[in-house]
Amino acid sequence: MLQNRISALDAVVGRRSVRRFLPTPVAKEQITTVLAAASRAPSGVNAQPWLVHVVTGAASERLSCAAMQAAQVGEIGLEYQYLPAIMQEPYLSRRRKLGHDLYALYGIGRDDRAARKNAMLRNFEFFGAPVGLFFTMEREMTLGSWLDMGMFMQNVMTVARTVGLETCPQQAWCDVGGVVHKELGIPENHILLSGMALGYVDPDAPENSLVTERVPVDEFATFHTG
Ligand SMILES: Cc1cc2nc3c(=O)[nH]c(=O)nc-3n(C[C@H](O)[C@H](O)[C@H](O)COP(=O)(O)O)c2cc1C
Repeated sequence: MLQNRISALDAVVGRRSVRRFLPTPVAKEQITTVLAAASRAPSGVNAQPWLVHVVTGAASERLSCAAMQAAQVGEIGLEYQYLPAIMQEPYLSRRRKLGHDLYALYGIGRDDRAARKNAMLRNFEFFGAPVGLFFTMEREMTLGSWLDMGMFMQNVMTVARTVGLETCPQQAWCDVGGVVHKELGIPENHILLSGMALGYVDPDAPENSLVTERVPVDEFATFHTG
């Protein structure tokens, strides 16, 4: 049984994408506990399309090395297009604000492209987290299963917090999807949806103080009454 250290509401509302972790290891039992609880996510016809690759220790270092190399030389192998090529408002402004706020916390100037790239490359070290997760599913599954995967991933992030762990979902890994496939022996008929860093938050890291904005409910919800 999970220890109920925080409420479900706090686990959801207090979640942030953490971008610097402590090197403190996470026990395999704890990872299993999180994944088992997350797998209580609903899925259409109970298909449970999720597959997870857990990477730690030497396997993680090997993967990081290969991913860094590929990213440095610009060896991009997109798994799928996460965002539209041309982003329209209001999404464009939200994206720009995130970049602005994050780089300000990193202390990186607007035009310092090298420093920005280095910050981005930290994705491929799981931001220092001792555990990397990769979420895959069979390519033949269709849009409904993407919903299921999202719910499963959200469960992982929420449940992790109830056992004192934090996360950062990482689509960046899809940019080097070929490397992930090769290093982890993921078959070609499985699609990589996202990576995720998992570990203990570094409370002193400025970048971890970022609290991203949300639009108020009355701007995104329409109540139909009467
Ligand atoms: C599927 C998915 C992929 C993401 N990929 C990355 C990533 O590659 N690197 C990163 O630093 N953040 C990544 N993020 C984190 C988002 O930037 C973050 O969720 C958003 O800015 C809201 O901030 P919050 O998670 O702290 O609430 C990803 C988020 C999601 C949901």
